[in-house]
Amino acid sequence: MSDTMQAIVYDDFGGTEQLVLRDVPAPTPGPGEVRIRVLRAGVNPVDWKVLSGGLRGLLTHVTPIVPGWDAAGVVDAVGPDVPEYAVGDEVLSYARKDWVQEGTFAELVTVRAVDVARKPAGLSWDAAGALPLAGLTAERVLDAVEAGSGDTVLVHGASGGVGTLAVQLARLRGARVIATGSPSGHDRLRALGAEPVAYGDGLVDAVRELAPDGVDAVVDLVGGVMEQTLAVLREGGRHASITDHGAGEHGGRWVWVRPDGARLEALAQRVVDEGIDVEIAASFPLSDVAGAFEQSMSGTTRGKIVIHVAD
Ligand SMILES: NC(=O)c1ccc[n+]([C@@H]2O[C@H](COP(=O)([O-])OP(=O)(O)OC[C@H]3O[C@@H](n4cnc5c(N)ncnc54)[C@H](OP(=O)(O)O)[C@@H]3O)[C@@H](O)[C@H]2O)c1
Repeated sequence: MSDTMQAIVYDDFGGTEQLVLRDVPAPTPGPGEVRIRVLRAGVNPVDWKVLSGGLRGLLTHVTPIVPGWDAAGVVDAVGPDVPEYAVGDEVLSYARKDWVQEGTFAELVTVRAVDVARKPAGLSWDAAGALPLAGLTAERVLDAVEAGSGDTVLVHGASGGVGTLAVQLARLRGARVIATGSPSGHDRLRALGAEPVAYGDGLVDAVRELAPDGVDAVVDLVGGVMEQTLAVLREGGRHASITDHGAGEHGGRWVWVRPDGARLEALAQRVVDEGIDVEIAASFPLSDVAGAFEQSMSGTTRGKIVIHVAD
């Protein structure tokens, strides 16, 4: 077996011009780790935020960096003391580590076994690559507002990767969902079970029309919407944000998703069993991660972008 692999790498923070496809040493799985031969790797806005250097205050970075935190593929090597996985197992993972260095936009990636989930047979590779970070985030932010049966939940930013999953998962919890998105995406939000409203100036009035007594919970997936959130929340209502670090100062929660293999495995099974749609907006080859980042940076992606690393 070759001791090198192809990966997208950058040596300095900046824009997509920093991204280079090159040969790098293949990683070796350490104790408690598996190595995954990556077939698909999901793209998340955090990938280009890390590239820009914008997360240097929050995470430790070691260059050169292979970006990417989502992976789906086949276990091709197992480190010491990992009895639960074997070579050939089909898996997916939200593979964020304690520091930023060896990511998933590569032919191979090592991942802690506790962060790995088995891929259900009925889940497509594209969906498996797209689901991890966004799906776990959707679950955690709904947990943070205790979204449940009988609640009316407002989801800011419902059309994106996290939003489309949050809408469906909130509906499956028995909540009524009001969802913000551009009007051109409203039919799609309706099909996911939400009552869509446009974002921007008329947002508060539109939500009040649908929920005159206020909403029970607000989930913010876009940022910059605290004023609208507080204007539509009923007294005693709950709110959480995945983008607004200051949500706690307004009685809400800031959520920063953690890897969780067991929870991801349960979620992947629910996607199959309950027909949750993991919508794929676009697919790019490993050689064009820059193109994928540029699409993600446009802020107009509906669903998820995946990198097709191998068949
Ligand atoms: N804290 C965490 O753990 C965590 C985890 C995941 C993501 N995030 C962050 O959460 C954000 C969303 O992530 P994502 O993966 O869902 O992003 P995404 O897929 O790129 O979201 C794109 C969507 O955002 C919508 N949008 C843009 N501006 C909006 C506004 N003002 N109001 C409502 N919708 C708006 C657009 O909807 P239309 O097409 O309808 O205009 C577009 O479809 C990103 O900033 C990401 O970095 C944080």
